[in-house]
Amino acid sequence: MIKNIAEEIRSRLGKHTPEIAIILGSGLGHLADEIKDPVIIPYAEIKGFPQSSVSGHMGRLIAGKLEDQEVLCMQGRFHIYEGISPSEINKVITVFKLLGIKTLIVTNAAGSLNYELTPGSIMLIKDHINLSGTNPLIGPDDETYGPRFPDMSNAYDLTLRQKLLETAKRLGQNISQGVYLMVSGPTFETPAEIKAFRTLGADAVGMSTVPEVICAVHAGIKVLGLSVITNYGTGMTDKAQSHQETLAQGELAAANLTRLVKTFLGELNHE
Ligand code: HPA
Repeated sequence: MIKNIAEEIRSRLGKHTPEIAIILGSGLGHLADEIKDPVIIPYAEIKGFPQSSVSGHMGRLIAGKLEDQEVLCMQGRFHIYEGISPSEINKVITVFKLLGIKTLIVTNAAGSLNYELTPGSIMLIKDHINLSGTNPLIGPDDETYGPRFPDMSNAYDLTLRQKLLETAKRLGQNISQGVYLMVSGPTFETPAEIKAFRTLGADAVGMSTVPEVICAVHAGIKVLGLSVITNYGTGMTDKAQSHQETLAQGELAAANLTRLVKTFLGELNHE
């Protein structure tokens, strides 16, 4: 039962009452190391919680303070390509909702579909295209958590995006906004797919994030999404794709992302 999972986590959080959740993508786990006064809960210790399996992704919740904001971090997320059912991702976000989360910051590693978005840069997600082939809300809808047909016109909250851009400007970080396209993976894309996605108007491609965002929007949680660009899409250069390269570029941009998110949190007035 979802309520039992939320209760179990709440009982372990002690004095922490986070309203902001952060999902850390490939190579971006370091942000969690900066959390003060951390309470660490491995997913394996939470009965009924999905388990993560990809190398480079740890599987634990970390609650505590980041720049005076109470946060709940997911170090290690769930991907459809692992065989995790999309409805399990909905379970996680519903647990967040029950814990009182009001804002979700999602990060990921993504491939660039736009030559102006260079590897090592950060893209602020302004919208998405769901080509994962599925949707985490498929199935009966429990109206206590959200509507059957959620509106997706402001999925990546405009006010949060504007604040993030102001923070980036103050830090001298050049962040551009773009459209994130999700595929299920686990294969990297073919050159023909990359060409098609560029034509569709997407700026970055990846294998995550969209399910969490859909569930958060459904549950009335505001979303801010950031992609670390690790490589150009297949066929945009003459290099083959590698997961190792993705992790290495993620590491490089991670310092900038950590600084950006921390400063953003410090400046966020959470009503
Ligand atoms: N494609 C899909 N997912 C990714 C990529 C990519 O090129 N890079 C990082 N995640």
